[in-house]
Amino acid sequence: MADSSTSERLLVTAALPYANGPIHIGHLAGAYLPADLFVRYQRLKGEDVAFICGSDEMGVAILMRAIREDRSPEEIVDTYHAQIEENFERFGMSFDYYGRTTSDEHRDTAQDFFRVLDEKDWFNLRTEEQLYDPEAEMFLADRFVVGTCPVCGYEEAYGDQCEQCGSTLSPTELENPRSTLTDATPELKETTHWYLPLEEMQPKLEEWIESHPEWKNNVLGQVQSWFDDGLKDRAITRDVPWGVPVPADVAEKHGLDAEGKVIYVWFDAPIGYISFTKEWAAEQGEEDRWADYWKDDDTELVHFIGKDNIVFHCLTFPSMLMEHGDFVLPDNVPANEFLNLEGQKLSTSRGWAVWLHEYLDDFGGERGPDLLRYALATTLPETKDADFSWEDFQRRANGELADVLGNYVNRTLTFAHRYFDGEVPPLEDPSDADEAMLDALSDGPEAVGDAYEQYRMREAVYETIDLAREGNKYFNDTEPWHTRDADPQACANTIHVSLQVCAALAILIEPVIPDAARRLQDMLRLTNVRSSTPANDPDDAIGWDDAGQPLLEVGHALGEPEILFEKIEDDVIEAQIEKLRERAAEQDSDSTDTDMDYADLKDNISFDDFMELDLRVGTVTTAEPVPDADKLLRLEIDLGFEERQILAGIAEQMSPDAVVGTQVVVVANMAPKEMFGLQSEGMVLMAEEPDGTFVPVTADAENGSVVR
Ligand code: 2FM
Ligand code: ZN
Repeated sequence: MADSSTSERLLVTAALPYANGPIHIGHLAGAYLPADLFVRYQRLKGEDVAFICGSDEMGVAILMRAIREDRSPEEIVDTYHAQIEENFERFGMSFDYYGRTTSDEHRDTAQDFFRVLDEKDWFNLRTEEQLYDPEAEMFLADRFVVGTCPVCGYEEAYGDQCEQCGSTLSPTELENPRSTLTDATPELKETTHWYLPLEEMQPKLEEWIESHPEWKNNVLGQVQSWFDDGLKDRAITRDVPWGVPVPADVAEKHGLDAEGKVIYVWFDAPIGYISFTKEWAAEQGEEDRWADYWKDDDTELVHFIGKDNIVFHCLTFPSMLMEHGDFVLPDNVPANEFLNLEGQKLSTSRGWAVWLHEYLDDFGGERGPDLLRYALATTLPETKDADFSWEDFQRRANGELADVLGNYVNRTLTFAHRYFDGEVPPLEDPSDADEAMLDALSDGPEAVGDAYEQYRMREAVYETIDLAREGNKYFNDTEPWHTRDADPQACANTIHVSLQVCAALAILIEPVIPDAARRLQDMLRLTNVRSSTPANDPDDAIGWDDAGQPLLEVGHALGEPEILFEKIEDDVIEAQIEKLRERAAEQDSDSTDTDMDYADLKDNISFDDFMELDLRVGTVTTAEPVPDADKLLRLEIDLGFEERQILAGIAEQMSPDAVVGTQVVVVANMAPKEMFGLQSEGMVLMAEEPDGTFVPVTADAENGSVVR
């Protein structure tokens, strides 16, 4: 295992967010906060780190948004890039560089990469008939086309993926396709594209992944399921008017015209990590330094991402890097799962999200970012989906930051000022309790550090706050308010040791709540601490490992205590919950009153047609998620005369617990279908509300009853 403590430098990336919408807490918990925690820890350790990110400004999603809003793609990305960059900074993301994939450097780097792979004859070129919108005069890539999913029958599946069953699709697989631009029925037209030969790469990728048994289980599990399904070649060019152009010389070599052809966003975006490292080095005035990070084997490359990006960072990008040959491969891809909000899936279209810019406006002031960082850091979906709730946010802020950490610091400093002239008192003849506390202190940096090194961020934060908890307990147990008369030296010892613990905490807590950590360092007049942000620290700066030793000398003059964290009142939290509910309701009523989109009535059918349907009442006896199919639940349904297994595309809407025990109406003579290796023997009827919410069609009747 490449361990950061053994490699010379670290290159850490966080997924490039699409510049077509604002950042919400799900993004922060998925990739950005864990990356920032890790990097700040590494900088405090004194490691050489480059932390690279930037806006993903290409791709069909951005073009679609531009078309929908009647703006240019440039306008869209300019707006959101600026907003995202600013809010990341306010939140305390400590990137060394934050770039944009619309830069010239990025275009050149991506095109060179493409050229090198083409020269190596690695790509497969295929000429095929693809869907073309004759009205818009455009090929319909990815989300420009919707139609019926061939796997589950969902009628609004996109050209690249069915949102109901999660299957990866290509546009021509859709039944009854239609253009999302003009609603026209597409024609088939011939076009040539470059494909990543992933099928052929599978053995090599499998061997490489096997060399990383230390990766997180959720990541390895997902990769394995892609291997089990068998990797398929993927087109990495598109006929759309927005993206990094396919280099003309490369197209010419194949007798093709590059006009109108661009590189697929998932090919160019990860190359952004390289382009931005180049831009960063140039900005530092060390043009060639980027190569140390990308070409020297003594670099550890770590990609922080959310789980929806696993395939691209564990399979496609590494295969590109392997075949290119000049660059290092990722050492780890610690992907997180998803964050839910108040028990429900985050949904940007339903307004069920906490947007970073809104949060920062509501919780203005210097403490706001730290509060959110702490609440998220303790709730990260590291091994499975996790839930953010405002009450939990309040409980953590009040119970842990204010009561545990803030109170400990405050009582220690207040005591030092009141009884020891604001100076560090001497430690003499320490008691067992004093020694035990100093031992816990000296174990701190390693215990917390180990958790960070193993990408267990939540554990690292718990370990840190536990040190403050232990400090409080020690303070209580040694009762300095009694010993100050009865045994003044014992009292001095408690304050001496507690001040040392506060000094250690001022460093160990910095990755999580950097602003409070700096305020605490100021209160303690603890100077010359290494920075957790990009900086050139002096060699003798105090770092992470030093935090295990007492840092404050006897007689050292302390600053005045100030409140580290104010308590958050109930009404502040209630207002946030209310805001969320109101917005979701608004969104729901928007879609019901104004532009309520009733589905078109279908053509008449005969009575006999209807009688062909065998509808039955059944009770859901079991419901569980289907591994790797985010949208599907596997249901067992008691039809009275038999038990059926049915896969229903409702996982994003309903938790398994919510459906078990419900009596539903089942299409019992639906031809069985295999999905994700499981048989689905029927269909459960659902009413789809205008906002896309599913409500089961229920019945209160004997199981097996016929519905007619
Ligand atoms: O999922 C996303 O938001 C993508 N824009 C992530 C890209 S990560 C990298 F490959 F650039
Ligand atoms: Zn489907």
